[in-house]
Amino acid sequence: MPIPSALVASLPSTAPFLGPETLERQLGRKFTLRLGANESPFGPSPRAIEAMVAQAAQGQNYSQPDGWDLRAAIAAHHGVRVEEVMVGTGIDDLLALLCRAYCDPGDFVVTTLGSYPTLEYGALGAGAQIARVSYRNDAVDLAALLAEVLRTDARIVYVANPDNPSGSLLTSKELSDFRAQLPERTLLLMDEAYADFTNDLPPIDTSDASVVRVRTFSKGYGMAGLRVGYAVGHVEMVGLIDRIRMHFGVNSVAAAGAIASLEDPEFLRFVVQQADLGRVKMEALAESLGLRALPSHTNFVLVDFGTKDRAVSAMKALLEAGIFVRKPGQPPLDRGVRITIPRLEDFDLFAEKLTTVCQSLQA
Ligand SMILES: Cc1ncc(COP(=O)(O)O)c(C=O)c1O
Repeated sequence: MPIPSALVASLPSTAPFLGPETLERQLGRKFTLRLGANESPFGPSPRAIEAMVAQAAQGQNYSQPDGWDLRAAIAAHHGVRVEEVMVGTGIDDLLALLCRAYCDPGDFVVTTLGSYPTLEYGALGAGAQIARVSYRNDAVDLAALLAEVLRTDARIVYVANPDNPSGSLLTSKELSDFRAQLPERTLLLMDEAYADFTNDLPPIDTSDASVVRVRTFSKGYGMAGLRVGYAVGHVEMVGLIDRIRMHFGVNSVAAAGAIASLEDPEFLRFVVQQADLGRVKMEALAESLGLRALPSHTNFVLVDFGTKDRAVSAMKALLEAGIFVRKPGQPPLDRGVRITIPRLEDFDLFAEKLTTVCQSLQA
């Protein structure tokens, strides 16, 4: 037998996500509504689709190995330099690259128990150890994260803001105070996958080598299947990622779609406005059923069912009813079911299904 890498052989065999298609195969039927992965129900912008179709006809050509055109479009969007932006195949790709870039085997990555799991997958793959702190009042606990960073001399501290699955948002003041107390040698990795849905994120400061922001075209821009994300920060960070990334990873069709998306801000405004309206309706629906939706700054809400058992039953019943949803697996948020905000035209169907599920839980 060939000898595998000791690190890789020691990793748990995990499937971080069970895809809806796998669940459909298991259940033997198709979902009517896909509300489990915070995908956009609106798809990509029509302009992005047009650009991608045109680019597909040029599929014989390699994508740009330096990703220049896409990086330039993103840099212009944020008012930073191209050298301060690096693209990857989604945030997930960048999380793993950042772990490899900043961790030696045995180093610590600090995160919140139950927050976005792919960070942990990337950290373990880099040979890092993971230290977790609990949510506090259903939100990220910066004081606990700081204490854990100091205790473990962590190389990376991860903060999803807005957070998944809680939907909560930290203020710019809270974050700048946190940053000020962190050791310079610790990288603050801010996962802003849901940035499109809030106007309250701190300004991007690429002069700070200890902070990196990662964003995606998967959510507001509706391109999750096309796999484009990016990191913005110090040139040093970009240079590190550049040494280990797959240079043709972001394909030319996806790059063309992402560039065209940035040129269509009106479409994004429409998506965000629909999510805002849908979120209010979701909160009202939950309340009418005697439940509570946690305050959310994203395109999903976590509906609190009070206990883990009730939440598991509700999720199973929704899946059976043809609605794809997911739920957090870790306390304290495992008492909730996470639901992507549907299109307004699908809302009545969803409301009917959730109402039936709640009635069956009471019976
Ligand atoms: C907090 C968070 N980060 C990252 C991602 C994945 O982003 P991408 O599709 O760019 O890999 C998600 C997707 O749900 C997410 O919730």
